[in-house]
Amino acid sequence: MKKINEYKGFIENLAKDAGIFLKQRIGKIEKVSYKGRINLVTDVDNKCECLILKRIKKAYPDHRILSEESGRSGANKSGYLWLIDPLDGTTNYVHGFNFFCVSIALMKDDVLIAGAVYDPMRDELFSAAKDAGAFLNRKRIKVSGVSKLDKALLTTGFPYRLGKAMQQNINNFIKFMMKSQAVRRPGSAALDLCYVASGRFDGFWEMELHPWDTAAGVLIVKEAGGEISNFKNELYTPFMNQILATNKCLHKKMLDILKNKPHKTQCG
Ligand code: IPD
Ligand code: CA
Ligand code: CA
Repeated sequence: MKKINEYKGFIENLAKDAGIFLKQRIGKIEKVSYKGRINLVTDVDNKCECLILKRIKKAYPDHRILSEESGRSGANKSGYLWLIDPLDGTTNYVHGFNFFCVSIALMKDDVLIAGAVYDPMRDELFSAAKDAGAFLNRKRIKVSGVSKLDKALLTTGFPYRLGKAMQQNINNFIKFMMKSQAVRRPGSAALDLCYVASGRFDGFWEMELHPWDTAAGVLIVKEAGGEISNFKNELYTPFMNQILATNKCLHKKMLDILKNKPHKTQCG
């Protein structure tokens, strides 16, 4: 356990430093490129990732790393795997919509053991270690107790590929709009998860996410008492491409809606 807490401390400090870097670079983006028609990446994403990778490689040279912009790196000798999103919410960042974060998680033998998500604009550090609870700025957090869908504030995101999953999620969005109190789409999956963990949102679903988007947030939700699965209610791993994260009370209700056939609106 001591070791896990050490990792948690390391991750918290690193996420904070990386987040401060992102904040300092606001308005100073030098290059914006496209990874797809609407999928942006900036020099700040890459520089922030370098900062994170350097620190991990120096401290843990025998660990493997999977990061959004560089892919796989590091040695393959240990059972440790780092999952890193240096800037979750790049579209927001580029547009000056200040809702973005850094997300860093660590797995040991395929089990998430520590993670942190840092929002530098609000100075909010969400973190968790396996079996040791979830925290926001070192204060314990837990999921909400909302059990009725019509009282629930939900959140989602949409894939960058404008394909079948996009259409499917538009259908899901409509269905949840009809049944819940409201649905939001803030544009950072890692923060969406942390907002479920802290009770600000009651449920989150999304498709076509990547391990670096969800790994830290998933551990934080779990440790805050929430429930996570794919849309078939199978045990979630960050390598799955569907996620449902809830306050537990709403899990079955949201699953029932996600399992339904595409919803027809009055317009057809
Ligand atoms: C994106 C954000 C967004 C989600 C996208 C992600 P990025 O990550 O988390 O909320 O809807 O699917 O890819 O590209 O800003 O790191
Ligand atoms: Ca991301
Ligand atoms: Ca990113």
